[in-house]
Amino acid sequence: MKSLLEKLSLTDVNPGACTGPDGWITDPAGAKLVSRNPATGQPIAAVIQATPAAYERVVQRAVERFQTWRTVPAPKRGQLVRDLGQALRELKEPLGELVTLEMGKIKVEGWGEVQEMVDICDFAVGLSRQLYGVTTHSERPAHRMYEQWHPLGVIGIITAFNFPTAVWSWNAAIAAVCGDTMVWKPSERAPLCAVAVQHITNRVCAEFQPGGLDGLFNLVIGPGATVGERMINDPRLPLVSFTGSVSVGRRAAEAVARRLGRAILELGGNNAILVTEDANLDLAVRAIVFGAVGTAGQRCTTTRRIIVHRSVAADLTARLVRAYRQVRIGDPMRDGVLMGPLVSEEAVARMLAALETIRAEGGEVLIGGRRLPELGPCFVEPTIVRMPRQTPIVCEETFAPILYLIEYETLDQAIAMHSAVPQGLSSAIFTTRLDTAERFLSATGSDCGMANVNVGTSGAEIGLGFGGEKDTGGGRESGSDVWKAYMRRQSNVVNWSPDLPLAQGIEFSG
Ligand code: UN1
Repeated sequence: MKSLLEKLSLTDVNPGACTGPDGWITDPAGAKLVSRNPATGQPIAAVIQATPAAYERVVQRAVERFQTWRTVPAPKRGQLVRDLGQALRELKEPLGELVTLEMGKIKVEGWGEVQEMVDICDFAVGLSRQLYGVTTHSERPAHRMYEQWHPLGVIGIITAFNFPTAVWSWNAAIAAVCGDTMVWKPSERAPLCAVAVQHITNRVCAEFQPGGLDGLFNLVIGPGATVGERMINDPRLPLVSFTGSVSVGRRAAEAVARRLGRAILELGGNNAILVTEDANLDLAVRAIVFGAVGTAGQRCTTTRRIIVHRSVAADLTARLVRAYRQVRIGDPMRDGVLMGPLVSEEAVARMLAALETIRAEGGEVLIGGRRLPELGPCFVEPTIVRMPRQTPIVCEETFAPILYLIEYETLDQAIAMHSAVPQGLSSAIFTTRLDTAERFLSATGSDCGMANVNVGTSGAEIGLGFGGEKDTGGGRESGSDVWKAYMRRQSNVVNWSPDLPLAQGIEFSG
């Protein structure tokens, strides 16, 4: 473990605030936060959290740097992000393993998370030469009308424990090429991942010519009640990108709206897969197991509900139970292990409480449902539950590996059930019929931000917008034209005629 931490420039006690190269701030008044390995409960290392004074210094530096960063040509900003992507490629192994160590996802998923960072950097580099605005035709002679996109300001990025580095990068790589500076508050459950990433950005920024660059990527680790509250209420942050629970997200959205700022919200999911009577069950089973068991059920995109046609329910159920029996649970660092621990003992308690409610609401546990204390404090069995119908607990997001199976008879009924939950992030259908697939993707089909055919609900690539509707918050991050949220739009009209014709043909002279 020591050598892993050393490779990532981490020490036993790390400063929790930073304004770039040589910009680490250790405020002696900052409270110590000990990060623990959820697989063992043992401490890994500690962070000294940011105080309000440290927060102030960090935001101030980000505000100052924005004044110059916004004038750097976008393709040159892209070169910095290209270097960041390269540094991440080189550190993919240790950084992925740190993700595993600190939040418990298995090693291949930890590496996958860093790969996602590399991918978004590549995307952002290309984007830095494609920040297009439209031009259109004016109704007035010798007038030119067009639209351009300017940098927005200092972006606030608040991330969750489950993707402790990738979600930052979806925001950071895009914001950087858009000419913004940023302040990152990571989850208190994964502070070391953030410190490690900050060291990487510092090295890349130190190389920036001429003379290095500070104040672009900034870090403030601290409690939601102090640092998080400050960020959502800070008028110097025109955009706050928040990933987390619906309840905290709602609070963040309200605070940001009160000051007429913008928010990108990535809140809960309650993602379903519809399995039709004609589905390829081999594919469906593989997608469901990855979607429900991967990251121990702690992705926003985790598959939580299977809505299966009555005629194939018994077959699918038997196959899933068989597949679940084979899931190796254990130390997420070990090869061959498919499921690590939950992130904390509280998460375990929440799962067990949900299982009690499930039973009270008529659910039948088909496999799993127990804690595994012999493996460590946070281990549980992945669980499949047969539900008689979509009861209230099924409509909640329990951030744990609980998979509900519910039967349907008609496609209309299945789609109605699919949409009858408050969340709207990711969805999928397994079918071999074109008309059924198209119906699911149509305006009367899935109401989610992401809808897939013969592809599961989790494991999205970075190329499209990521996010969802309803209680999921409506935000979009990463690919497609999502960059527009990180810039301000300006509509321009240029008159090169000798006259001053007015729009709508108005004559304004006496
Ligand atoms: C999240 O769970 O917050 O699509 C993000 C996926 C990943 C990202 C999940 N690429 O599952």
